[in-house]
Amino acid sequence: MIKVSHLTKIYKTGEIEVVALDNVSFEIKKGEFVAIMGPSGSGKSTLMNLLGALDVPTSGEYILDGEKIADLEEDELAEIRNKKIGFIFQSYNLLPRTTALKNVMVPMMYGDIPKEERIKKAKKYLQMVGLEDRLEHASNELSGGQQQRVAIARALGMRPSIILADEPTGNIATKQAIEVMKILDDLNKKGHTIVVITHENEIAECTKRIICLRDGRLEKDELNQKRQKLSKIVK
Ligand SMILES: Nc1ncnc2c1ncn2[C@@H]1O[C@H](COP(=O)(O)OP(=O)(O)OP(=O)(O)O)[C@@H](O)[C@H]1O
Ligand SMILES: [Mg+2]
Repeated sequence: MIKVSHLTKIYKTGEIEVVALDNVSFEIKKGEFVAIMGPSGSGKSTLMNLLGALDVPTSGEYILDGEKIADLEEDELAEIRNKKIGFIFQSYNLLPRTTALKNVMVPMMYGDIPKEERIKKAKKYLQMVGLEDRLEHASNELSGGQQQRVAIARALGMRPSIILADEPTGNIATKQAIEVMKILDDLNKKGHTIVVITHENEIAECTKRIICLRDGRLEKDELNQKRQKLSKIVK
């Protein structure tokens, strides 16, 4: 499903060059549940932006479902982002002063789904993340964990085959982090491929495979043999 080969990303800011990703190669198959770990500045978000086709590498190749991402035009990329990939950002990126229901409906507006259907689906996804009683709450009237769950419901809107989550539990309390990981685990059981960025061991240990970055390089890529039960998460 995802294949990256010799992926390198160099940011140039004035005279300074930062090698954010350095010759990274791996494959992720359909149905995997992968954690990407590494210290601050190790290239995790850079990698997520490349995997999500939000940015292009300086060199190297990215093949998503058999398509070379570098060969696609901007409108084709936008279509892939919209249809195949669900993003969950660390900062939620919800529209402020807009209800949970509307926030979840927004991406569906780009997908030719009739309004009635959009409402029905948005309600269904909000129910899945346990927010059926918060449909009309504006995002600024929700707790951090609830906002994160709205962001997950929104990511589900287009039934993405891949869900990319950048520190989905970074800003929330333990109990809510467990809930978020449970939702991601359920989605994985339903066949979604999940890639979650985290710097917390306890979160990575709930996934099935752990990829570690250090200074932009792939340091480790291992199946998680001692997968933790979600209830064991302590933060
Ligand atoms: N847009 C940018 N322009 C210039 N340099 C950047 C840019 N984005 C990231 N970098 C640099 O690239 C390196 C990798 O950044 P990245 O955001 O991928 O790290 P990260 O692993 O996600 O860190 P964190 O855990 O703090 O979120 C850092 O040294 C950062 O300063
Ligand atoms: Mg980051």
